[in-house]
Amino acid sequence: MELQGKRIVLGVSGGIAAYKAAELLRLLIKDGATVQVAMTEAATHFVTPVTFQALSGQPVFIDQWDARMANNMAHIDLSRHADVLLVAPASADFLAKVANGLADDLLSTLVLARDCPLLLAPAMNRQMWENPATRRNVATLRADGIAIVGPASGEQACGETGLGRMLEPEEILAELIAHFQPKVLAGKRVLLTAGPTFEAIDPVRGITNLSSGKMGYAIARAAREAGAQVTLVSGPVDLPAPPGVERIAVTSARQMHAAVHRQIAAHAENAADLDVFIAVAAVADYRPATFIAQKIKKAAQAAPPMIELRQNPDILGEVAALPKPPLCVGFAAESENLAAYAENKRRRKGIPLIVGNLIHDGFGGDRNTLILFDDDGQHPLAPDSKLRLARQLVARIATLLEKRR
Ligand code: C5P
Repeated sequence: MELQGKRIVLGVSGGIAAYKAAELLRLLIKDGATVQVAMTEAATHFVTPVTFQALSGQPVFIDQWDARMANNMAHIDLSRHADVLLVAPASADFLAKVANGLADDLLSTLVLARDCPLLLAPAMNRQMWENPATRRNVATLRADGIAIVGPASGEQACGETGLGRMLEPEEILAELIAHFQPKVLAGKRVLLTAGPTFEAIDPVRGITNLSSGKMGYAIARAAREAGAQVTLVSGPVDLPAPPGVERIAVTSARQMHAAVHRQIAAHAENAADLDVFIAVAAVADYRPATFIAQKIKKAAQAAPPMIELRQNPDILGEVAALPKPPLCVGFAAESENLAAYAENKRRRKGIPLIVGNLIHDGFGGDRNTLILFDDDGQHPLAPDSKLRLARQLVARIATLLEKRR
């Protein structure tokens, strides 16, 4: 219930993606929001107002001459108590109107008369999106402080493929939730590792750790919500990349190590040093000394095979030991003596913050219990969803970054 108590005006303009606005509305309501729908006349040709009325439980407004408001001021009243005005889909024509301050129907008048933030989710044919006029309009809208979410690239209703598809309803929901989070990491660059690593023995076998990747992915999402530019180096997990997060997929610890160092070097080359490194990955400590190219056959072995192991690089330890390290955050998953082991690990790795969790608390699930250990001592975080815990961790990281300056 991320949107509990939030009041949203959902504007629907005319485009085939309007059918997805019905699903979006359902998600907003399910997440606790109160939603008032306003449609353009064109949108009613794609989906009827009855659909939106049934889903929102509120009358739908289309016409600026609608006399249902006692003072006949629907264009003012509808957005007066709103926390945000979201237009999805926003057609090329609608973007053009908003960019130029036109107000010739209820929805565009509402937008012009609003006193709350505006989010637009564009949806149009790829050539309309690429048209210089649309490019100009989008630049104007951005300069006016209007948030534009999407569009995505992919197959379009017209049969063409390219940039212009509206984001999926779940993605727009995630952008809206992000919109309401405090921007404590605005402009910061954050690199994370997440998930397990897999160390191949032969083409079908390997050594790995148990890790769903959910905690790391939640932290990547929370950092992005807080305004950071986020890169996630991820071992093999079954999770979609959080919206707006660049994901680099790796398999082994050595690949993860190389990807992390490439990212750090690329940032340094661009004179845009990394601000924060968060090592959430459950990195396999050892890998087989040699990879056996063909599957080891059971029958061919007189005795069980011996696997010689080599130690993997300590990714976090190395980053923390760089001459000008980013703020480094580690994880300590322990099955006992959490405080002692975590604090010990923090000192050994020379990092300012370590996040401790007892293994049975969070493994694989959506909830966790964490304790943060830093120079100020211990900060226990009550059991909560991984995303809400991640937001608290991000807030602590922002405080430590402030202190470092
Ligand atoms: O005690 P350990 O070295 O496993 O410490 C765990 C922390 O170090 C985690 O943050 C983990 O992501 C990181 N780590 C790493 N590279 C390794 C092992 C652990 O970055 N090879």
